Formats: sequence, structure tokens, C-alpha cells
Amino acid sequence: MTIHLRPLVREDLNAVLAIERVSFSDPWTRGMFLSELEPRGYNQAFGAVDTATGELVGYCFIWVLVEDEIHIANIAVRPSHRKLGVGRLMINEVIRRGKEAKAGGITLEVRESNTGAREFYRKLGFEEAGRRVGYYRKPFEDALILRLSL
Ligand SMILES: CC(C)(COP(=O)(O)OP(=O)(O)OC[C@H]1O[C@@H](n2cnc3c(N)ncnc32)[C@H](O)[C@@H]1OP(=O)(O)O)[C@@H](O)C(=O)NCCC(=O)NCCS
Repeated sequence: MTIHLRPLVREDLNAVLAIERVSFSDPWTRGMFLSELEPRGYNQAFGAVDTATGELVGYCFIWVLVEDEIHIANIAVRPSHRKLGVGRLMINEVIRRGKEAKAGGITLEVRESNTGAREFYRKLGFEEAGRRVGYYRKPFEDALILRLSL
């Protein structure tokens, strides 16, 4: 499988929503994604495309705070393409952008019960940096803050 990364555009939103809805119990809405695609100076979004089929198989939304931190607002891979290195490829791209922006680190929130994602981040070098009590709904749950130092 060959994957390439490219910027996300509005035409990707149906494919993004299809992945989002099977990936999260409290998925982002179309409106949330649309707002993230509006240029605000610090928000960036890219997708992972299966070169063989042209299909979108993953996406990543980040906030690049120059000389500060990169925040991963959303990341997911289509279930059919998980455990094949797509997530790692996207995180490596975030790391590249973070270094370019001279960011000190990459942060994100993850549901405490999301053991699969926590293991994924642990393998990529992220460490626990805090907790946000009651951060999530559907179901109500704490978030762990994870951070990778750059
Ligand atoms: C978390 C997620 C993005 C990982 O993407 P992925 O493409 O499957 O990850 P990769 O294939 O690049 O995996 C990288 C490493 O993490 C490991 N890993 C990935 N998912 C894992 C899981 N569920 N359990 C244990 N290890 C896992 C892989 O085995 C691999 O380790 P290796 O290099 O030692 O073989 C994907 O599972 C997903 O979309 N989950 C649903 C959405 C979600 O939870 N997003 C994160 C919210 S904070």
C-alpha cells in the first residue's frame, strides 16, 4: 500500500465524516469540520490518500502555534486501513511541521478509555502530561493530555 498526504478540501468532507462517525462515539459535525477548514492562520488539515484507489483513508487537523506548541485537534484512520502505518505517517508529518514552526512540543487529548489510541501514542513517544476532568461527553469521561517533546 502506498499512501500520500495532501491538504484537505471541502470536497473531502463526506469521506472525512464517514471515517469520523465510525471512529468516535461523539463525532465532530460537518459544521465543526467546515469551520476547521476555514483559514484562521494557525489551523491546518491534511489527509492520507491510498494512492492505488485515490480514496481518503485518514485525516489530521492541527493548530500550529508558532514557537509554542502544535495541538492535534483530530486524527483518525479508516478502520480498513488501521495498523498499517498510516497514523504514524501522519504523526511524522505533524512532527515535521512542528520542527519547522520551532514548536516545543505536540499536545493532544485522548479519552482515558481509548486504550488503542493511547498505545499508539505511547509507541510514538508521547507521554502523559495531565488530565482534563469531565472533558468528554457521550460518554462523560476524563481526557488525558499527552505530549511529545520536539
Ligand atoms: C489511533 C489511530 C489513529 C492509529 O492509527 P493507525 O494507522 O492504525 O496506526 P499505525 O498503524 O501507524 O500504528 C503505529 C504503531 O501503533 C500501534 N498501534 C496502532 N493502533 C493500536 C491499537 N489499537 N492497539 C495497540 N497498538 C496500536 C501499531 O501496532 C504500531 O506499532 P508498531 O510500529 O510497533 O507496529 C487509529 O486507530 C484510529 O483512527 N482510531 C480511532 C480514532 C482515534 O481514536 N483517534 C485518536 C483520538 S485522540
